[in-house]
Parts: sequence; structure tokens; C-alpha cells
Amino acid sequence: MAALTRVSGSVGLISLLNPPVNALSAAVRQGIVDTVRRAVSDPQVKSVVICGQNGVFCGGADIKEFGGHMSGPPLVPIFNTIEAADKPVVAAIEGSALGGGLELALACHYRITQSKARLGLPEVSLGLLPAAGGTQRLPRLIGVPAALDLITTGRHLTGAEALKLGIVDQVTDQNTVEAAVKFALSIPSGCNICRLHLSERPGVMQRVKKSAHGAIAPVACVQAVQAAATLPFTQGMQREQELMATLFGSGQARALQYCFFSQRVVSKWSSPSGSRWDTSKPKPVTKVGVIGLGTMGRGITVALALAGLSVVAVETQQQQMMAAQHAVSGMLERTARRRGVSLVGDQIRYSVELEAVADVELVIEAVFEDMALKEKLFKQLSTLCKADTLLCSNTSSLDIDHLASQTHSPQLVVGMHFFAPAHVMKLLEVVYGPRSAPQAVATAMELGKRMGKVSVAVGNCSGFVGNRMLMPYVEEASFLVEEGASPEIVDRALEEFGFPMGVFRMSDLSGLDVGWKVRKARGLVEPGQMSRVRQGRRYSPLGDLLCEQGRFGQKTGRGWYLYDSAGSREAQPDPWLQSFLEEYRARQGLVSRRIDSQEVLERCLYALINEGFNILQEGIAAGPEDIDMIYVFGYGFPRHRGGPMFYASQVGLAQVLQRLEHYQQLHPDIPHLRPSSLLRRLVSSGSPRIQRWREIIRMPHSSL
Ligand code: NAI
Repeated sequence: MAALTRVSGSVGLISLLNPPVNALSAAVRQGIVDTVRRAVSDPQVKSVVICGQNGVFCGGADIKEFGGHMSGPPLVPIFNTIEAADKPVVAAIEGSALGGGLELALACHYRITQSKARLGLPEVSLGLLPAAGGTQRLPRLIGVPAALDLITTGRHLTGAEALKLGIVDQVTDQNTVEAAVKFALSIPSGCNICRLHLSERPGVMQRVKKSAHGAIAPVACVQAVQAAATLPFTQGMQREQELMATLFGSGQARALQYCFFSQRVVSKWSSPSGSRWDTSKPKPVTKVGVIGLGTMGRGITVALALAGLSVVAVETQQQQMMAAQHAVSGMLERTARRRGVSLVGDQIRYSVELEAVADVELVIEAVFEDMALKEKLFKQLSTLCKADTLLCSNTSSLDIDHLASQTHSPQLVVGMHFFAPAHVMKLLEVVYGPRSAPQAVATAMELGKRMGKVSVAVGNCSGFVGNRMLMPYVEEASFLVEEGASPEIVDRALEEFGFPMGVFRMSDLSGLDVGWKVRKARGLVEPGQMSRVRQGRRYSPLGDLLCEQGRFGQKTGRGWYLYDSAGSREAQPDPWLQSFLEEYRARQGLVSRRIDSQEVLERCLYALINEGFNILQEGIAAGPEDIDMIYVFGYGFPRHRGGPMFYASQVGLAQVLQRLEHYQQLHPDIPHLRPSSLLRRLVSSGSPRIQRWREIIRMPHSSL
């Protein structure tokens, strides 16, 4: 698991060997202990180089060991031994040095890295902190501010950036191990790790706490770095261990590790018809057509171009096309600069002729949300594109199967539902209809992956998974306001839970008119009417009444909140809204009552979760991980809570069921509070771990 050889006469070369990333398993740790001891005691060895085999230095801890009992030697004493060695030790970093891998490199006296290697301490994203001395050695090496940034965000650096920050001593484009050996030979004797003056930065804790939205790991990271700045090394190490112990057993760490694994689970998609990721081969795609260059089409074009695809972008008229071209160029440049990638010129061709997409392999349609328009377009595309071209729609609510029925090859139609802004948001829902070919699903999933998205395959239904679950959540928030809450009370509870924005601030941001249009299309809007029962169920006309007043949210300067001016983002409580609500309640005969944050959370979240169970029951999502990744990556559900379904499992399914029953009794006219039969089945099966839900879902059951 680690081998020692002598090279160039006096350099002891230690190679880690644990493919694919040389994770620090028990055997690797033991290997390091043995080889370091031999190298240090061998009089012929004057200096030591540590590298990883197969072009990767070390990917860090073996995450598979997290769940079970840790055996083998612990990292801290191993790294202390390396640091205390009286022979210079050089890390030769190729591929990646992440987490414990970078901590190993930090314990070495010098670091040489390949320019393209990735370095980072991503522990915080798993709800942990770098607990093998990372929080103590990194600030001593590069100072507090830079160390705090890396440790609290978990972001990765390239070798070149690491050199700028002073993490590494040399960057090379040549053979890294050879460069490290050469470096080791040039060191006269002995060495010390560099110790910089450390000072705390005031205000850091407040800033990190604010952006953590309730996550505890970033806060613990700051505390550990504060210890590095104020305590001697040994005491700092002790503090690091204490902080790690509180994080390790926390529900947040479990939730974040669940997210880590779930991201992989959702890429292994399956559908009820039996098609699966491992039996469906994606079709190669190099050229993609995008139709409609509004908000979404522009972002999609940018994301495709950044992924190296060539794009044919189509608008209706010259003027719209020019405006879009200008906007796309700017977005592309800014994003490429931010990500440090270089662009290949001429990747995007603009046109006002639909025929321009005749030779592409895949089309993504992003025109107005209008079925008649999309029907016509799909008919045209089906005729003018190559016979095997995949036709995808970015619709957020329309029936994919109906669109497929407009074409000659319905098996080639799938939904590719991006989220705004499409070049930034990580989520892609790939929507398959009953007739979609496995290869079409596989191709859309693969394209999403190439675009850096977390792609989740879901079945076709109104709102697909994300928006379908959002409906009861948003409705519940309006009902709470009718019953006595204010938008501020509802939003505060949800933001304290960890959402970056509550329902009403979010709705003001995206525009109240969007939902109004959808409700109109569903025949729910009755202008000027206040009735609270529509289509046989409870309905809140509050959103419609605000729209009728021209209150569309931020863009009109007023919505659920008041803004300084149209387009301003600073939401303030609106006294007008307060009196409007009082009058509304009086006219409806509603007696306002005090609503606390517990009720807000239970009614909004359990309604959302309950719809998630219905979706699982119907097979629209294959497993709870699919729903959770959709919510974490597309809807701002706090990652440290794992997603709605994982959160339900943490709360306890019996508890969720009991509270839903309680609220349903109080509000029998709200169908989405009626507990899902799958939730009942899971509770009567003893509320198994979330990883076992799929078995229960598949089990035959009586629908009585
Ligand atoms: P938008 O109104 O910003 O843009 C639509 C664009 O399509 C306009 O630029 C229009 O000129 C163009 N267009 C209309 N007919 C066309 C045709 N026949 N050929 C070529 N271009 C045509 O709309 P937005 O917001 O970009 O939405 C597009 C689609 O994406 C809709 O189906 C919407 O439901 C969906 N969507 C929207 C999201 C959002 O947050 N805005 C999120 C996810 C999906």
C-alpha cells in the first residue's frame, strides 16, 4: 500500500498505492508509517519524496471507513512524525491532493506540484473539518485569511493558484516526481516549516455564520483556525480534535455525506419501464440546436458552449437575435473568466432560420411556455431535422408525451428541464415519457453531465418532480398568511431552517405573474373574486389579488414586500399589505391567530414531503435520493439537512405522519395534507433507513 525505493543515490521515494485515488485506508496509513520509519533510519537516505502511483498524489480519507469502526494507525501521529523528521521530506503532487491528501502534503517540509493538479480541503462539504492538522498547518503556512477561505468553502485550487498562495514551493509541467527528486537533492540539510505571523480577522465569524445558513461545519472551521492563530500548535491540534468530535457524530455530517453519495446514486438512473443507465448507451453529441434565446435559452447556450459543444442558436427575428448574441457573449466571457477556462472561438452560430438546426444531433427548445407554439415547433423540427435527432424541451410544466406525439419519432423526445440561470444552476431534470427510448434518456443525462449538471431522470407528470412538490409548499405558505401569519413570519422560519430565501421573498424575486399565468391556464383564477374554494378544494386568491393590483414583486417594486424602487432587492415589510390582509381576513370572516415557526415549518415542509412520497409511490422518481438532489441543487433546500426526504427520515416518519394527520383533521379541505399511502406503508414497516425505501416502494401492496 506504500512502497519505499531509493532513487538518485540518496533520495528515499515513498509511493502510495491504492487505486484509483490512493485514499488513506488503514493499509495505506500503515504503509506510510513503515516506509517513513525505514527511510528516516536508513543512513543512505538523505532526503525523502512522497508521491502517489498512477498520476494521483492522494484523494484523502477513505470515505467508506466513515460509517464503521476505524482501525489502523491514526493520521495525526503519522503526520507529526513526518513533520518532525530530521531529513527533508518533499511531497510530489500529481493529479490531486484533497482532504487528508493535502494534509499529508502540508506535513511534508516542501511541496512540488503539477500545474494542473487540484488541491483542496473539501471536508466542510461533508459536514467535517480537516482534522489531521489541516486547520493548524495551513494558516501557519499561508496566513489566516487565505486559510479560512479554503477551509470554510472547501474549494479546489490548481497547482498554479496554490503557488501564488504559498501552499507549494514549485510548480512544474514536467514529470513531477523527477522534479521533486531533483528538488530534494538540492536541499542542503534539515528544514523547518515556515511560520508566518498569525492574526485573527475581526468579523469573519459573523460573515461565515451568515452564509452558512445554519450549517455548523463552517463555523467549527473558523473556530479551529482561530485556535491556530491564538494557541500553540499542540493546543491548537487538541482544539481541532474536539471540534471534529462534535461534527463527526452530528446529523448534519450524516446529511452531507448522504448528499455526497446520493449525487452518485442519481447518475445510475432507472425508469419503471426497465430502462437503466448501465444498459443504455448515450448517442455521441457534438452539435446542439437551441431554439428561443430568452432567459433560459441564453443560459443553456452558454452552458453548452462552456462544455465545448458547438451550438446553433435560433431566434425569431433579427433584433431579438442580436440582443441575445450580445448578452450571450458577455455571459460567456464572464463565466469563463470566473472559472479560469479558455474559450474556443466561433462555437456558437446564430440564426433566424429554423432550418439552421437541420444538421444538429440534439435540439433544446426554450420558446415561450405555450403549448400551441411548442406543438407547431416540434412538428416542424421533426420534419426538418435528421431522422435520429433528439428533440428536447425545456418546458417547466407542459406534457412531454403530448409534445412527443407531434413528431414522427416520439421515442426521440425527452424533457431537459434546466433551472434559471441555466449556466449557473447545477440541476437538470431529464423527463422521460412512456415512449422515450432508453438511448434518448441516456443521451440527455450524459449531455447534462458534460455541462457540469447534476442530472436527475424523472417521469412525466404535471410539474415533474421539483415544481410539483413546490405547489403544496407555496400554497401552504399562502394559507398560513390567510390564517394570521405575515410573509415575514413565514420567510423567517424557512430562512432559519436554512433556505437562502423564504417562499415570499423567492416569489417576489421570480415574479408573482409567473404563478398567476399558470393558475390562469389551469382555470383557477376568477378576477376580483375572493372565494376560497376552487375546483372543489381550498384555494388562496391572495396571489391573484396582488397581481390584479399590478404587484408583481421586485420588478414592479412591490409584491409581498415593498422595495425602494422597481428592480431593487432590499425587501421591507409593507404596511399597505398588512392592512390589505386585515381587511381580507375581515371580509372572509377569518379570525387571525398567532402562528409560530414550528407550524410554518411543519405545514410547508410536510406538505412538500408528502407530495414527495406520492411521487415515489407513482414511480415518477426512482428513489428518495432523486428527490433530495432535485431539492438541494434546484430549490435551495439546505444541503446540511440532506434534502426533504432525508430530512423526513431524520425527523422520524411516524412523527411526520402524525403531524400530517393532525393538520389534515384541522384542514380537511386541503388535499395535500392527506398522508400519502407510501408514508403509511413505510411507518407500518417500522420506518426503515432511507437506503431501504426502494425495497418497500417495489413491494406489492394492496391499494385499499
Ligand atoms: P423567455 O420569454 O425569456 O424567452 C423565450 C424566447 O423564445 C424569446 O426570446 C422569444 O423571442 C423566443 N421565441 C418564441 N417563439 C420562437 C420561435 N418560434 N422560434 C425561436 N424563438 C422563439 O422565456 P424563458 O423564461 O426563457 O422560458 C423558456 C422556456 O423555458 C419556457 O418553456 C419556460 O417554461 C421554461 N423554463 C423557464 C424557466 C425560468 O425560470 N424562466 C425555468 C425553467 C424552464
